[in-house]
Amino acid sequence: MAQPRILILGAPGAGKGTQSAKITDHFDVDHVTTGDALRANKDMDISDMDTEYDTPREYMDRGELVPDEVVNAIVEEALTQADGFVLDGYPRNLEQAEELEGMTDLDVVLSLDVSEEELVHRLTGRRMDPETGDIYHLEYNPPEDPEVEERLVQRDDDTEETVKERLRVYHENTEPVIEYYDETGALERVDGERAPEEVWEDVKETIESAT
Ligand code: AP5
Repeated sequence: MAQPRILILGAPGAGKGTQSAKITDHFDVDHVTTGDALRANKDMDISDMDTEYDTPREYMDRGELVPDEVVNAIVEEALTQADGFVLDGYPRNLEQAEELEGMTDLDVVLSLDVSEEELVHRLTGRRMDPETGDIYHLEYNPPEDPEVEERLVQRDDDTEETVKERLRVYHENTEPVIEYYDETGALERVDGERAPEEVWEDVKETIESAT
């Protein structure tokens, strides 16, 4: 059987990256994430694309969306090469959702639901290990190894001010995408406001029963 094609939706901090890592391991699919792809190319020159700013960094550090033209090309290239995937961070507006329809079919569309207060707490407490890319949280999931703890860094867009703007952009642009998939009957909602392992049990079952 072909590997599953999974879309994971949710607000910033809902746990898309955390659950995608588990999906990747368990279902042996690629993790296609626009956030990581853009962070790896933050200073790419996009000035020839008739965009407001000249690099992705200038959008990301403000909490704004990077222009569709840039992001669509990244996703199309990654999906072409993937034999099964979990897509995380895309589509973020209705134009991107329409674009995605022309690129691939989906087997499962998941949405992780988490309250606003919890999202802010998760994002401002998130830390990354620059050596391994592993995600931690100062309170919920601190590293056991003091050496790892010392080298942890905060993402540039996880400051309180930028988090607020990211959530505003999410409500305006990405919530309509979730409503769109809900109306088509494809959306599977998962309560994301529980411990990561409990959320994972639900995510795994949902994918298994849909594929
Ligand atoms: P991106 O990197 O996609 O960020 P995001 O969608 O804002 O999502 P996050 O990565 O912040 O959160 P997450 O849901 O993955 O949560 P995580 O698992 O880490 O995008 C960044 C920027 O890139 C955008 O602002 C935009 O500028 C640009 N961009 C990206 N895609 C784009 C697109 N398609 N179009 C245009 N621009 C685009 O968890 C968060 C924290 O909570 C962690 O510390 C974790 O340990 C903890 N945690 C996770 N699950 C739980 C749990 N169940 N209980 C307790 N703590 C938990």
